[in-house]
Amino acid sequence: MFSRKAKRLHLENVSLEKLAEIYGTPSFIYSESKIIENFLEIKNAFSSNPVEICFSVKSNSNLAILQVLANQGAGFDIVSGGELARVLKAGGDPKKIVFSGVGKQKWEILEALKANILCFNVESSSELKKISSLCQEYGYIAPISFRVNPDIDPKTHPYISTGLKENKFGIPINIAMELCNDAHQDSNLRIVGLDCHIGSQITEIEPFLSALQILIDLVGVLSKKGITLSHIDIGGGIGIRYKNESVIKWNTFAKKISTLMRNTSQQLILEPGRSIVGDAGLLLTRVDLLKKNGGKNFAVVDAAMNDLLRPALYQSWHEVIAIREDENENKAEWEIVGPICETGDFLAKGRLLALNEGDLVAILDCGAYGFCMSSNYNSRPRAAEILVTKNKHLCIRKREQVSDLFHLETLKPS
Ligand code: LLP
Repeated sequence: MFSRKAKRLHLENVSLEKLAEIYGTPSFIYSESKIIENFLEIKNAFSSNPVEICFSVKSNSNLAILQVLANQGAGFDIVSGGELARVLKAGGDPKKIVFSGVGKQKWEILEALKANILCFNVESSSELKKISSLCQEYGYIAPISFRVNPDIDPKTHPYISTGLKENKFGIPINIAMELCNDAHQDSNLRIVGLDCHIGSQITEIEPFLSALQILIDLVGVLSKKGITLSHIDIGGGIGIRYKNESVIKWNTFAKKISTLMRNTSQQLILEPGRSIVGDAGLLLTRVDLLKKNGGKNFAVVDAAMNDLLRPALYQSWHEVIAIREDENENKAEWEIVGPICETGDFLAKGRLLALNEGDLVAILDCGAYGFCMSSNYNSRPRAAEILVTKNKHLCIRKREQVSDLFHLETLKPS
């Protein structure tokens, strides 16, 4: 994806310096080829056990990115009416949309019923009642899947562990069984699947296999009761390598999952986000000034925690590279920080780099949970997003302007 030509860093065939000149910084830059390559890697890994890949829109919801994936035949995992509207606008097939989330609003459920989505991943008995009564009132039959909470430790950051019994997500197994019985009797509902999502940035296969086994066992129990399902959805994808993590390969993952599913007739659904877009995007930022405090070197860049929240929120590690690094220049250890008024506003710590004021820096692996988690904190307009395809580049979201910050606000009449 990257290459250095005449000491200039390129993404596909476009120089990052040129992109900074044209579009300014900070900007999120994505490689279309890498997104497609990642999508096809998952699809091909499952070629003997066809899988429906429902891209998790929360990881990157830019319309053009959704469009790239829709054109590859991807389905989508959504968690809001906003994400539904984005997928439809981008040309996604509603019959391949699964609607997850612990608190779906009435209007969101109605929009999804109208769009005729593949299914609602139901997370509580209250939600089941809400969907059923809306169907009764408006004359729909809702396709539903139950999101089971399998009480499995995914061994990831606690903020993104979702399948432990104390987490807010999913339905305990015994209650899921009761709800299946209720839903089976309810003419407003059609049970089509079971699902789970135990967490994100999971690097080992064991937690996925344990969760899948629980779903397979449940499918067996339900089928004895005459409830036959058409799919099993095991949630998000595997993690990516940010630093030196050893991450299971999709081929191995697919083989083991397919082996476990060999006696089931249900279709497998996956909801990967990070593994499709994570390493396909970077945040391009410029060093504004260098300063020294308490023996530490600080490089203050023009991106901040409002652009990339992950380091501040999860203490996550993103590789940082200087775009025009000269191997002969002296390197020093740098804290890469933004201009926001919080000590938690850092993008990287303790990085050995040769940096000068005005240099460009790329923060890697920001394609997932990057722009979509950005905010206007400190009244900072949000960054631009650029899509690179071979030697072409396209602005897929304009940089916000200062006037965009308050165009929805009103002054009190004087
Ligand atoms: N399906 C459901 C129901 C989810 O909640 C998620 C992610 C996914 C699929 C996609 O998981 P993935 O394939 O991306 O691991 N902001 C955090 C990640 C939060 C993930 C939330 N759920 C981060 O920056 O690491």
